[in-house]
Amino acid sequence: MPHLTDPLTLATGSVLKNRFTLAPLTNQQSNEDGTASEHDLHWFEQLAAGGFTMLTTCATNVQSNGKSFTGQLGIFDDRHIPGLSAMAEIAHRRGALASVQLHHGGMFARQDLIGSGPLVGPSDDESSGARALTLPEVEQLRDDFIAAAGRAERAGFDGVELHGAFGFIPGGVPIPGQESPHGSLRRKPGRTLCLLREIIEGIRATCGPGFHIGLRLALSGQDPHLPELQDTVAVFLEHELVDYLDLVVRNLGTRVEVGLHTGQVLVDLFTDLPRGITRVGVSGDVMSAAGAQRALDQGSDFVFVASGAVVHHDFPHRALADQAYETPRPPLPASFFRNQGRSPAFVEYLDGSVGFVDAH
Ligand SMILES: Cc1cc2nc3c(=O)[nH]c(=O)nc-3n(C[C@H](O)[C@H](O)[C@H](O)COP(=O)(O)O)c2cc1C
Repeated sequence: MPHLTDPLTLATGSVLKNRFTLAPLTNQQSNEDGTASEHDLHWFEQLAAGGFTMLTTCATNVQSNGKSFTGQLGIFDDRHIPGLSAMAEIAHRRGALASVQLHHGGMFARQDLIGSGPLVGPSDDESSGARALTLPEVEQLRDDFIAAAGRAERAGFDGVELHGAFGFIPGGVPIPGQESPHGSLRRKPGRTLCLLREIIEGIRATCGPGFHIGLRLALSGQDPHLPELQDTVAVFLEHELVDYLDLVVRNLGTRVEVGLHTGQVLVDLFTDLPRGITRVGVSGDVMSAAGAQRALDQGSDFVFVASGAVVHHDFPHRALADQAYETPRPPLPASFFRNQGRSPAFVEYLDGSVGFVDAH
C-alpha cells in the first residue's frame, strides 16, 4: 500500500511530492471581472506553504455566460492571465503543482451575473429557464474549453481539471450518471464521450506533452445509472484519455443503495477498475490523517482535501506530523475562519449556502 509521504508521477512526468492535493474550492473572492484578487493569492500561498502538493483552483469559468457565483475566477479572456500566472508562480515557488478547474455553469449559471448572455444547458429546462445549446454553441463551448486550457498553460499552470460533476456541462451534454437531479437532461452517452474526447483531444493538440488533464466526476450510491458511469470510467481508464480522475463521494464508506451493486462500497467499484498510467484521486470527507490513508488503502492514488483545507490550510503538514490528527468539524464560529486567514468574501460564502459557520 502506498503511504501518504510517497511521491507519485503522472503520465506527463509531473511529480506529486506527497499524496495530498487540494480539491477545487469555490471561495467567491476573485475580482468581479474574473481576475484573481489579492485574496486568491494569499489563499494559494497559505495552501502551498501548508504542504499540498497540487493546488486546484476553484471552479473557473471558460465562458462569460457560464458564471455561477459572485467573485468567480475566470479564464475566458486573456486579461485573466496575469492573475493566474501569479497563482501558478506561488504554487511553484513552494514546490507544488497547479491546476485550473475548468467550469461552465450551464443552466446553473446566474442570469444576474451573465447579463444578456443566454442561459443555456444540455436541454431546455423549465425550472431554470435555460434553453438547449445549439450545435454551433456546443462547438463554441468545446473551443472555449480548449482555449481556456491554452490560457492556463500560458499562465504557467501544470494542467487543468475538467469539471464534469454536479450537472455542469463540460462537453455540452451530460456524462452518464452526472445528470443533475434538478433537470430532465438528455441522455446520449455516445455523444457525450465524443464531445469530451473532442475537448481532451483539442487540449492535447494545443498544449504541450507535460500539460496534464484531469476529469472530475461525482459518484452517488443512489444513482440508478451507476453501471453506465462505471462503463464510461472504464473507457477513460482503458484508453488513458486523462492523466487523472477526481472522483467525488460523500464519504469513503458510502455504499451503493440501488441496482446491481447494492451493498458494495461505492468508491471500490471505480478504484478496482483496471487502470494503466491514469491516476485516481478521491475526495469525500477526508478530515483526518487516518481518513487520508484510508483513501489510499481503498485503492486511490492520492486524496483531494476540500472541507479539511477550509478548516486548516496546512492540513497535509498536520496530518503528516500526527497520525491521530483530525480537523474540527464545521460549523465553526466565523472568528475561527477569520483567524485562519480566510477573506471576508470567503467567510460570507461559508456562512451562506455552505453552512460552515456556526450561528452562535
Ligand atoms: C466551500 C466549498 C466549495 C467547493 N467548491 C467546489 C468547486 O469550485 N468545484 C468543485 O468541483 N467542487 C467544489 N466543492 C466540492 C469539493 O471539492 C469536494 O469534492 C467536496 O466538498 C467533498 O470533499 P470534502 O468532504 O473534503 O469537503 C466545494 C466544497 C466546499 C465545501
